[in-house]
Amino acid sequence: MILRETIDEIYQTARVEEVVGEFVVLKKAGSNFKGKSPFVDERTPSFMVSPAKQIWKCFSTGKGGNVVSFLMEVEHFSYVEALKWLANKYNIEIKEDRQRTPEEVAEQSVRENLSVINTFAAETFMENLHEHPKGKAIGLSYFLERGFREDIIKKFQLGYCLDESEGFTRKAIQKGYKLDFLVKTGLTKVKDDRTFDFFRGRVMFPIHSVAGKVLGFGGRTLKADKKIAKYYNSPESELYNKSQILYGLFFAKNAIIKHDNCFLVEGYTDVISMHQSGVENVVASSGTSLTVDQIKLIKRYSDNITILFDGDAAGIKASFRGIDMILKEGLNVKVVLFPDGEDPDSFAKKSTTEELQTYIDSNAKDFIVFKSDVLLADAGDDPLKKAQLINDIVGSIAVIDDAIKRQVYAQECASIFDIAEPTILQEVNRVRQKKKEEQVKQDERQKRMEMRQKGQAPGVTAKPAEMDRPPDEDIPIEALLPPELAAAVQAPQKTNLIEYYERYIIEILLKFGIYVVNTESQIDEGAEAEAEPEQVEVSVIELVLYELNRDNISFENKIYDLILKEYKEGFENDVLYMDEHFLKHPEIEVCREAVDLITEKYELSDWHGQNVFVPDKLKNLERDILSAIYTFKTVKVKNEVLQLQEQLDNIKEGEDFAEIMKQQRALDKVRMLLADKLGRVIT
Ligand code: CTP
Ligand code: MN
Repeated sequence: MILRETIDEIYQTARVEEVVGEFVVLKKAGSNFKGKSPFVDERTPSFMVSPAKQIWKCFSTGKGGNVVSFLMEVEHFSYVEALKWLANKYNIEIKEDRQRTPEEVAEQSVRENLSVINTFAAETFMENLHEHPKGKAIGLSYFLERGFREDIIKKFQLGYCLDESEGFTRKAIQKGYKLDFLVKTGLTKVKDDRTFDFFRGRVMFPIHSVAGKVLGFGGRTLKADKKIAKYYNSPESELYNKSQILYGLFFAKNAIIKHDNCFLVEGYTDVISMHQSGVENVVASSGTSLTVDQIKLIKRYSDNITILFDGDAAGIKASFRGIDMILKEGLNVKVVLFPDGEDPDSFAKKSTTEELQTYIDSNAKDFIVFKSDVLLADAGDDPLKKAQLINDIVGSIAVIDDAIKRQVYAQECASIFDIAEPTILQEVNRVRQKKKEEQVKQDERQKRMEMRQKGQAPGVTAKPAEMDRPPDEDIPIEALLPPELAAAVQAPQKTNLIEYYERYIIEILLKFGIYVVNTESQIDEGAEAEAEPEQVEVSVIELVLYELNRDNISFENKIYDLILKEYKEGFENDVLYMDEHFLKHPEIEVCREAVDLITEKYELSDWHGQNVFVPDKLKNLERDILSAIYTFKTVKVKNEVLQLQEQLDNIKEGEDFAEIMKQQRALDKVRMLLADKLGRVIT
């Protein structure tokens, strides 16, 4: 466990706007920041960050939280991973109250060891390229002949691995690096007790993480021999995971944000040449077919991808799958085909920046035009093939989740093939419906399997706690509810009223807890009869706690109860917690609820003003609080009455009928009392 003091230090140091700013382009909006949600595809920014409260809120998805939960959402980090990420960013030493498990220590130290070795290797290869006579004669001259400028060679940290069987390995061992780790990075191979430099005689392309660390290498042979693989790449390891890496992203990310578009090319040299031509928003999946993780990586910076293809690319049809994947992730995709025999590298070399840019701009086709061009060339006039082609495109449109985009593409498809738009849309919807049904079936299969594994019979699910609409009409609860909830109560799906009020009371505590209200002092039972209640000033926290404590109420919802208990503990120690305490709570569920409660009542537009969180209903605060609490109690009592009623209906031999009746009468009395109080509060 990370020590509380470390967690506190992290929260005190980390700035939510800085951290979010690494993933989302933020613009100032009043006292807040605003940007496009990293969770959905949106045109209008709905993602807000409040530096004052150190929280964020995504109005598109309803998600919200603090700096830690942001990282958990956007990077799918665990709580501890998020804290570690922040500690690393802000140079905070992590203190833990237990030793990490041996596996954790091992995994972390493997990664660190591999990383140190890779850095050493990249430096060695660069040194070879620029200082070593053979490196200069072979490696550097190769790059220069290819037309790479020196500044670009340096920027991409290109290097050369000398053509010696184990020169690098020996040097690394001398430096004290362990053979095990050298083998893990793939820089060294072991065969029959002998070690070899895996990349010997190759020019080296270091592959960087988003943060610029060297994760691995691509090494290109300088031999023309067709039998030798052109590139060797680092093997998968604790550090290098090729499906989650995009070559060039570290150098491209700012330009991607700036142009709100990311060019996707095939190879290392395409990326480098385009950079050299001044087009910097470019990355390569280098050798692997595009993965979902790679698409998500791009999505952090832009919603737009333009794929650049060689003119003679054999893999164009294979690219269709990649296009569908991009569409499915909610990004927009265009395709540029280079002239026959040219790839982005060669084209960039012989053109000026303007020519390259103009070519790309004027040849970028959206995926429908691209697909139909490619497929039409095959289909010719064959009507069957043409029909298949349209189905193919319909399939692509169907993976798009955004209905408006689907409509737009359906329109386009309709006009290209001269088919009525409704026909296309209908077909798109049919495909989607079919997919959905398949998904449902798949989910069910999955669930059944899980249940079987757990030894549970299928079909038995726990019934959610529900509150039936009260059968008796003497106090119509709906009348006391806010309109949106009143409707819910009457609707067939019943709402859990108890939880609704628990939530409401927590909301009051978070928003107004430290405010002072005037209320009638409570007169202890047994005090003199003529004692008159007087007006006293108490904090909202005290008022709420008093009202709940005197009936020994704890909350059914675990999170709300946890928050309530903390208010109670604080109060007993003379601390009135502010919302901040819960917004930075180490329990991430607590923090999430707190942010939800604080922000949800506000519309996006409210975030612009200064007074976002300042309540406007202070006037009737005491009345509102008491009526909420009395209604809550009424609901609880009614629930108990109902339970008793049920007991009476199903009474068994031997059970004490009279006792139940007694309890029921007692509850009735309480209910009358509450009704009376409520009446007095409201009027
Ligand atoms: N690639 C690979 N292994 C190979 C061939 C290619 O990993 N044997 C990957 C590399 O990442 C390479 C990309 O696929 O950059 C594209 O291949 P290719 O176009 O052949 O290489 P270029 O980068 O264009 O290299 P060059 O221009 O020097 O031929
Ligand atoms: Mn090439």
